[in-house]
Amino acid sequence: MGGPISGTSGSEAVWWQNGTVYQVYPRSFQDTDGDGVGDLRGITARLDYLAWLGVDAVWISPFYRSPMADFGYDVADYCAVDPLFGTLEDFDALISEAHRRRLKVILDFVPNHSSIEHPWFAESRASREARKRDWYIWRDPAPDGGPPNNWLSNFGGPAWTQDPATGQYYYHAFLPEQPDLNWRNPDVRAAMHDALRFWLERGVDGFRVDVIWHLIKDEGFRDNPQNPAFQSHQAGINRFHQVYSCDRPEVLDVIAGMRTVLRAYGERVLIGEIYLPIERLMAYYGPGLTGADLPFNFQLIQTPWRADAVATLVAEYEAALPEGGWPNWVLGNHDQPRIAARVGEAQARVAAILLLTLRGTPTLYYGDEIGLGHVAVPPERAQDPWGRNEPGHGRDPERTPMQWEDAPNAGFTTGTPWLPLSADAERRNVDEMRDDSRSILTLYRRLLSLRRDHSALSIGEWRSLSLPPDLAAAVFAYERFAGGETLRILLNFGHRDWLVPLGAESAWTILLSTHPGRAGGRAEGNLQLHPDEGVILRPTDR
Ligand code: NOJ
Repeated sequence: MGGPISGTSGSEAVWWQNGTVYQVYPRSFQDTDGDGVGDLRGITARLDYLAWLGVDAVWISPFYRSPMADFGYDVADYCAVDPLFGTLEDFDALISEAHRRRLKVILDFVPNHSSIEHPWFAESRASREARKRDWYIWRDPAPDGGPPNNWLSNFGGPAWTQDPATGQYYYHAFLPEQPDLNWRNPDVRAAMHDALRFWLERGVDGFRVDVIWHLIKDEGFRDNPQNPAFQSHQAGINRFHQVYSCDRPEVLDVIAGMRTVLRAYGERVLIGEIYLPIERLMAYYGPGLTGADLPFNFQLIQTPWRADAVATLVAEYEAALPEGGWPNWVLGNHDQPRIAARVGEAQARVAAILLLTLRGTPTLYYGDEIGLGHVAVPPERAQDPWGRNEPGHGRDPERTPMQWEDAPNAGFTTGTPWLPLSADAERRNVDEMRDDSRSILTLYRRLLSLRRDHSALSIGEWRSLSLPPDLAAAVFAYERFAGGETLRILLNFGHRDWLVPLGAESAWTILLSTHPGRAGGRAEGNLQLHPDEGVILRPTDR
């Protein structure tokens, strides 16, 4: 199987390679003013928790001024905090308190589209001759009066809306309330660079850039080709292959421009949200690594949860990385069903080990560390506009409030939470789990601390281990190594036990297991891996 892949040596590694990122969805983290929606002060109040947990950076989903048609991914002012979340002073306090605890702060930048309420759009839509007309994407109707081409919205329906003011259509890859900006226009680029600088000047350590692969569209606005494999349970956007509406080669130049802005401020990270297959994803490192530092790797979300499938994926991803490109891994986010909902509670623990022992920067999604699963949201409490347009595709279940303690609303709010909490919130909360050696929270914390203590795990190299075929279907085995230390990871994706051969070279000690009673145990020759068990082993003297 795959040999070692060259990694970055410890001395060269920068914080976003060494470290771990934790995503906060601000509406759902901690409310301090009783309106049922989380806020910036709430995040500040929980920074001690994040430091205790052992993450290195916090990525905060958008909190800019917004009419909230897409809960903040529709920005009406790129340089202001929405009053729902607090004030700029609250943000300044957050960043200084985070930095005091050595936590980096990464903002969510949403440059592909603004809100329909952004003054730029008001100016743009006013007339065909408006000074900012070309800041957005306007086209004449097709000869039959319909939309200019067949492009669809990611949230259902056409991606074009006709504006009565001029009779032209504007393009929106998402809601009609989220008109796409025209990144071919240098004035748009300059205005967006200014917005980046506004936050960089306030000390932010990087950005996660929303739908970065969407920023440039085909110059000729050609129709997207049909997808013959489309199935009716899929979201409507999948009727066509999105080859002309996104992932255009010129986008790399736009990303390089953003990166230059960031680098003028030192080692700030640029993370790009990109849902593309591995070979296309790799292009986003940019020629000569001038692109995103971390093109988000969502492959673990999209690959079937089987040892052999995941082993193949990791090997393919590692092999596809460009020279010097740093890997990253993600199990979930605010747009995807939670990992515990997808693979079950026992396998969510295996997934935690996988995420935190693969080579590359891991991003944790808030709540996964307490094993939050699918939270049922009754139809009358549904919030997500996508779910309203296309039933079954709503993202509410993965956006429910964080659960802190056995108190009303699990300590999230003193008011009525904007989304319900999980039915087991009395038990499934930070307070109940933090001192329980068997809890998934303890497992996450222990893994994060191991990553800090063992450079083999953070920046070490990776190699897969071959296993006999029947075993390889259920168990994923690999090693991480650096500076003379080798750690071995065995993950049982199955629900029965397996005897795993360890080889004759050394004896092994269990450094960590999903099954806490097993830590400290020794093995020689073979290890009996329990159902749903993951372990980290270190060699020991016989
Ligand atoms: C991706 C974001 O993660 C998602 O939540 C949002 O709805 C779309 N981009 C549109 O901004």
